[in-house]
Amino acid sequence: MQSYHIAKHEGIENLALTQEATIPQPKRGQVLVRMRAASLNFRDLLVVKGLYPGPFPSQLIPCSDGAGEVVSVGEDVSEFVVGDRVCGLFHQDWIAGDMKDEHMANDLGGSSHGVLSQYRVFEKHGIIKMPSNLTFEEAATLPCAGLTAYHALAQNGIKHVGPSQSVLVIGTGGVSIFAAQFAVAAGAKVIVVSSSDEKLEKAKSLGAQHLINYSKTPNWQEKVREIVPNGVDHVIEVGGAGTLQRSLQSVKRGGQVHMIGLLAQKDPNDNFDVGMSVLFSGAILRGFIVGSRAMFEDMVKTIENNDIHPVVDKVFSFDQAQEAFKHMESQKHVGKVVIRID
Ligand SMILES: NC(=O)c1ccc[n+]([C@@H]2O[C@H](COP(=O)([O-])OP(=O)(O)OC[C@H]3O[C@@H](n4cnc5c(N)ncnc54)[C@H](OP(=O)(O)O)[C@@H]3O)[C@@H](O)[C@H]2O)c1
Repeated sequence: MQSYHIAKHEGIENLALTQEATIPQPKRGQVLVRMRAASLNFRDLLVVKGLYPGPFPSQLIPCSDGAGEVVSVGEDVSEFVVGDRVCGLFHQDWIAGDMKDEHMANDLGGSSHGVLSQYRVFEKHGIIKMPSNLTFEEAATLPCAGLTAYHALAQNGIKHVGPSQSVLVIGTGGVSIFAAQFAVAAGAKVIVVSSSDEKLEKAKSLGAQHLINYSKTPNWQEKVREIVPNGVDHVIEVGGAGTLQRSLQSVKRGGQVHMIGLLAQKDPNDNFDVGMSVLFSGAILRGFIVGSRAMFEDMVKTIENNDIHPVVDKVFSFDQAQEAFKHMESQKHVGKVVIRID
């Protein structure tokens, strides 16, 4: 079987396709999955470049997000049969309830080997049946990006998104586009800010009603306040230090800022005082990492009931993994970058 490994965490060119002599076999309680597609997250770029905290297994197989079909099961597995179409879970051991420190110890493509491989053995609790309306390439986008957006807006939230609410989405990458789709499905008013008019047109085609180009309108929070004078109910905050001040100026009192990512650098001349800004905004800041198996089960139902299809920007073949990572790095994509696993 063929798998990608990260020889050294020093850049995309260190991603190496290797041939292994044998296909692993599932033991008691395990399931062997023939992976059919993987998708990339910003985290996968950080991992391959050595910018994500380890430790990692030696010769790490990258990527948390993938989908495939069950090809054999070990003893004591009645939950899955050969032919089931499944996704792996980002946190292999976070089943339900609140996240605990130990759930970080077994996350795909980080503390454990990932899915950029033709075959992978999972513990039976580490996979889930994928939504019946999706292809492998679409379902491969769900475990990290999809579930993070779903967690923000629909699960364990202090206030879940619903009709008559407003959601501000920063950027048009994987998590952000999923958040826009889930918010539209919930009947919310969706505002997207992006670097590009072309990307904003794609967001509009998904149902986002208000579009702001932050390259042309750097003080985009003023525009948000024109659209929703009292401020938005939710912000999908993927920028971090570089965008938080504007997010806090956009959110209503008691609204939620979902602290998900760290893409934007803070201007060194900016004397933004986080504590003071949070205090006066009256906002609830909420950080979290992906989601549990129970949340994933709920997301599968939402995707099926609303016939939501993840936005796949481009599909690369298995031998083009380095090109796929470079495309992701270029930030030209809208939604997800996928690698088909032939
Ligand atoms: N907490 C969690 O569980 C979790 C889960 C998944 C991801 N994350 C984090 O969330 C972030 C997004 O991840 P992703 O995989 O969705 O990334 P991605 O697909 O690579 O999205 C990148 C997009 O973000 C936008 N962006 C980049 N720099 C920006 C800036 N300075 N200001 C505003 N927008 C900017 C750009 O879209 P436009 O050109 O449209 O502006 C860019 O195309 C990353 O920091 C990632 O590590 C966290």
